[in-house]
Amino acid sequence: MEFSFSEENKNKIPDILKKYPHAEAAVMPVLYLAQEQNGWISQEVINEVASVLKMPSEDVLGVATFYTMYHKSPAGKYHIQVCTNVSCMLRGGYDIYEGVKKRLGIENGGVTPDSKFSLEEVECMGSCGTAPMLAVNEDYFENLTVDKAIEILDSLK
Ligand code: FES
Repeated sequence: MEFSFSEENKNKIPDILKKYPHAEAAVMPVLYLAQEQNGWISQEVINEVASVLKMPSEDVLGVATFYTMYHKSPAGKYHIQVCTNVSCMLRGGYDIYEGVKKRLGIENGGVTPDSKFSLEEVECMGSCGTAPMLAVNEDYFENLTVDKAIEILDSLK
């Protein structure tokens, strides 16, 4: 499906570019902006970002596929990331991950049939001091138990 930046997002790009020594260095925030608009990073998004930044689309693809924060397929309305890295694992991260999987009925990388939820098991999200944690889109939920995690899922409309 075709992708081009909305007028509002086109207007944000010059401000992003000002923060970097050259356009290619801004590839991550521009990709993120595109993902916010499109929901995921499709080949059309890659092509548009490459065109805007005047860089090879292969280089944009390389960045998009290296970092897990870019969705390579459509995500749910609520993208659930459960950390199972060391601090979270030691404090029940896998129990939470298994509980979330069971509640949503999907596996890692899956999307519920109604597209409400997608699930991703992730590495450390920098919240080790308040492990275990999960993120719903950009929001962190910390010091979790399985019950609290399920409560959070159930509260999402
Ligand atoms: S190990 Fe889970 S946030 Fe760091």
